[in-house]
Amino acid sequence: MDSNEIRSRFLKFFEKRGHAVIPSASLVPENDPSVLFNTAGMQPLVPYLLGQKHPMGQRIVDVQKCVRTGDLDDIGDSRHFSFFEMMGNWSLGDYFKEEAIKWSYEFLTSKEEGLGLDKNRLYFTIFEGDENASFDQESKDIWMKQGIPENRIYALPAEDNWWSPGDNGPCGPCSEMFYDMSGNVGDLSHEEFLQAVKDERVIEIWNDVFMEYEKKDGKVVGKLNQKNVDTGAGLQRMTAVMQGKQTAYDTDLFGELISKIKDLSSVKNEKLERIVADHIRTAIFMVSDGVLPSNSDRGYILRRLLRRSIRASHALTMNNDYNSLVPIILNKYSESY
Ligand code: SER
Repeated sequence: MDSNEIRSRFLKFFEKRGHAVIPSASLVPENDPSVLFNTAGMQPLVPYLLGQKHPMGQRIVDVQKCVRTGDLDDIGDSRHFSFFEMMGNWSLGDYFKEEAIKWSYEFLTSKEEGLGLDKNRLYFTIFEGDENASFDQESKDIWMKQGIPENRIYALPAEDNWWSPGDNGPCGPCSEMFYDMSGNVGDLSHEEFLQAVKDERVIEIWNDVFMEYEKKDGKVVGKLNQKNVDTGAGLQRMTAVMQGKQTAYDTDLFGELISKIKDLSSVKNEKLERIVADHIRTAIFMVSDGVLPSNSDRGYILRRLLRRSIRASHALTMNNDYNSLVPIILNKYSESY
């Protein structure tokens, strides 16, 4: 299943369940001076999570473009990317845990409408409780109602299972879904599960956040007036899972781009190839949202990405062939954007 098919299945699945499909918002936040780029699917929806009426209703589904450039130096390994897409279904004061969990599971496992993942390769986490909110028994019960055995449900602390965009804004406990990449991990004790996640034998593929709280200056100050659901499933990871690859660099999202980079280079260096591919893709998405290279803020980040990418392309001896990468990216993403 290629990445375009995953996106379109996701949107269709939730559209059929009453969600309005909305296009990705720009990478450049409209009314949020706290970040230079959208860094999570929920960011453009913050006003609606806080109670403002969304013109498309209370059930929304989208695939949101995001940029994170905090760890540029790590790019080149198998896990870091400066641009990514978050698939998300949203309840803005409408359904809550029951539907969110049921639909996440259905989408992951249904062969007809979803991804058809093997149920025996899935693991689930819930919030263990603290001074802000109690143990999430309700989510546990709902998972068990889907037929998940109790020993595949792990309760974790806020550090893992409380999601907020930063020190301020809507937040809440979450429940995550994990997938066994090798297919032979099997049942795990609590400790073994944590270790398997650390070793990346088991990876997180989806996060359901039950956003009914609000944070101010780093402290949870109470409940919002409405109960929301913020879900996030990273397209790159999902594509890697569906294509049986350890990294999105080996999936159709990057396949043609990386082979072109290899063709044009006489030096072989996986890390540099990935830097070129990652950064030029992000740069193109930034430019298409109106960002231009400059000496400050967003423009500076774009300039930095281009500089790093071109420098890596020189190290690979691609030299003046750099521009021939552009049409490959335009082609790959033109159906969705
Ligand atoms: N906001 C959550 C995340 O980014 C779920 O979308 O993981």
